[in-house]
Amino acid sequence: EEIVPFYGTHQAGIITPAQDYICLAAFDLTTTKLSAVKELFQKWTLESARMSTGEFVGTENTNPNIPPTDTGEAAGLSPSRTTITFGVGPTFFDHRFGLASKRPAALADIPPFAGDNLRPEWSGGDICVQVCADDMQVAFHAIRNLTRLARGTAVLRWTQEGFQRAGKSARTKDETPRNLLGFKDGTVNPDTKDANKMNQTVWAQSSDGAPWITNGSYLVVRRIRMRIEVWDRTILSEQEATFGRYRDSGAPLGAVNEFDKLPLDQKDSSGKSIIPDRSHVRLSHGDGSEEILRRGYSYSSGVDHKTGQLDAGLLFICYQRDPRKQFIPMQKRLAQSDKLNEYISHNGSAIFACFAGAKQGGYIGEGLF
Ligand code: HEM
Repeated sequence: EEIVPFYGTHQAGIITPAQDYICLAAFDLTTTKLSAVKELFQKWTLESARMSTGEFVGTENTNPNIPPTDTGEAAGLSPSRTTITFGVGPTFFDHRFGLASKRPAALADIPPFAGDNLRPEWSGGDICVQVCADDMQVAFHAIRNLTRLARGTAVLRWTQEGFQRAGKSARTKDETPRNLLGFKDGTVNPDTKDANKMNQTVWAQSSDGAPWITNGSYLVVRRIRMRIEVWDRTILSEQEATFGRYRDSGAPLGAVNEFDKLPLDQKDSSGKSIIPDRSHVRLSHGDGSEEILRRGYSYSSGVDHKTGQLDAGLLFICYQRDPRKQFIPMQKRLAQSDKLNEYISHNGSAIFACFAGAKQGGYIGEGLF
């Protein structure tokens, strides 16, 4: 029945194979009472567990004398592998709730990077809710109903929807989806089936210093606009040099198959690296010691009326055990030298500490209270 269990050691939606669609929402708290935050997390837990199995929100859906507790648009739709993943941002730990001492060091403020073009309307947030599902209407329904449940306690700060190809339309099952620049995206990622690897790279460990986040993970989101029109006027060999991979096969330059190792030491006859020094894969790979779990989606949000161009790009999402050792150093290198920077612009940014999974009867973020 296409159900991903909501309860468990870890939250669903992190190492879960990516569904077709995402609705990501950042909320700001309007309450100043910690007890109200706790009640919100309890309500959100119960109703998220229900929505993950395709049930209605609440129990008052047939009483003609009151507004139904569920908004109704997901009725008759499959659970669509819905996952709902919650986290809290740095501002959650400011003076308002007295939780400053609980802020994990790994929930670092993301430093400014060269070329950043960040806008407040796509950045930050006290709380993050990532909903992924194979049906956009189901994903939207979840965000809408969680927002409704938060009335009086939290308000939306920003949202972004995104898509991959629909699983159904892929000719070859399990083929790596392509981003809007036409390249396979997601080839090199740590193996989510390897539990040790996940403990090393994705899940916060009890030895990391903040007990309440153990088995949780840190999410970094960047809303990255693509200068699609410029890219589309760029010759293929230059596009391939930008990434360091062939567009058609997804193989690294100088190799044959998509999953071949990057031949980082290979030089051409003039002594230049076959995988260019400023290519995206070489720079993001670095010495191979920093790894992140990428789980991004493409987005298209209408027209930028200043330029008449598409506002489309990558809703970059990555999970990791410690952003100070993973995303941040990686992005620092990319921001300085990535050839891809000619074609992209980072215009949103946020970081969240995503909770451990909730147990049945418990609730998300329980260790905080
Ligand atoms: C690899 C696209 C931004 C980290 C790749 C690949 C593509 C790609 C096509 C090669 C295939 C693959 O392994 O998935 C993009 C685009 C971006 C973007 C279009 C922006 C619009 C970022 C950012 C980061 C990042 C911001 C992290 C700071 C990585 C990593 C790899 C990768 C770690 C794998 C490198 C390796 O081979 O070890 N990206 N990327 N990317 N990207 Fe990006």
